[in-house]
Amino acid sequence: MSAAAKPLGPAEQPLGTPESAAEPARPGAGLPQHIGIIMDGNGRWAASRGLPRALGHKAGAEAVRRTIEATARAGIGWLTLFAFSSENWQRPADEVRDLTGLMRMYLRSEVSSLAREGIRLRVIGERERFGAETVRAIGAAETATAHGTRLNLNVAVSYGGRAEIVAAARDLARQVAAGTLDPEQVDMATFARQLSTAGMPDPDLIIRTSGEQRLSNFLLWQSAYAELVFQDVLWPDYDAPHLAQAIAEFARRERRYGLRVA
Ligand code: IPE
Ligand code: IPE
Ligand code: MG
Repeated sequence: MSAAAKPLGPAEQPLGTPESAAEPARPGAGLPQHIGIIMDGNGRWAASRGLPRALGHKAGAEAVRRTIEATARAGIGWLTLFAFSSENWQRPADEVRDLTGLMRMYLRSEVSSLAREGIRLRVIGERERFGAETVRAIGAAETATAHGTRLNLNVAVSYGGRAEIVAAARDLARQVAAGTLDPEQVDMATFARQLSTAGMPDPDLIIRTSGEQRLSNFLLWQSAYAELVFQDVLWPDYDAPHLAQAIAEFARRERRYGLRVA
């Protein structure tokens, strides 16, 4: 790792929110504090085997298990997984049903092992759109894992970065209209506190699998200074060595935050 890859101290991070400044990257350097993953390629994985897409998503859920474990073992404190985008609602109804069903099943089957492993699960995104039963299952899983401190796991479902930013702007506008907020007080920290990631550090590494090189509406505000790593592996094949590779690539990057290093 080059000396310049050392993360800047919190005081040197011009775009850091107070939340991220409060949790500087731990010493030991090179390690991202927060990894976001755009888990892509389930459909292509299934198609390449002549299988229905649903089986690709099922195999993707196994990769989720492996990746959570590998992340926790690597000593990373935060992991955000993009599981279902606000645009994914436009897929055929049977695929949406398969994905929703799988999510509910996963929540129920994994919650006790997550709690046992010290993993705190939080769901971000418009969970209400999945209906009462799923909302209940999500709430129960969040409560059952609330004491976990080893790894903070966010799962983004019915999540879209633009919708999240618009919702934050709407909330702030309401407060201004109600006379409880002075528009002059709206700064980046105020704005960040309205997002679903309030109080969490920004992701410093965003990984996308399947070879596609785009964000697809994932953590738009939060990824302002994230390092992007695109890996040519379909999500159901993802495993600990791929994660290690991405972390190694991150360690080689030089983060400058708009400043001059030398
Ligand atoms: C990722 O795999 C899962 C979701 C987006 C829900 P895809 O279903 O997008 O798989 P590809 O991109 O079609 O291969
Ligand atoms: C992004 O994948 C969303 C998730 C991984 C949940 P998509 O497959 O939906 O993205 P596009 O359509 O290729 O941009
Ligand atoms: Mg895709």
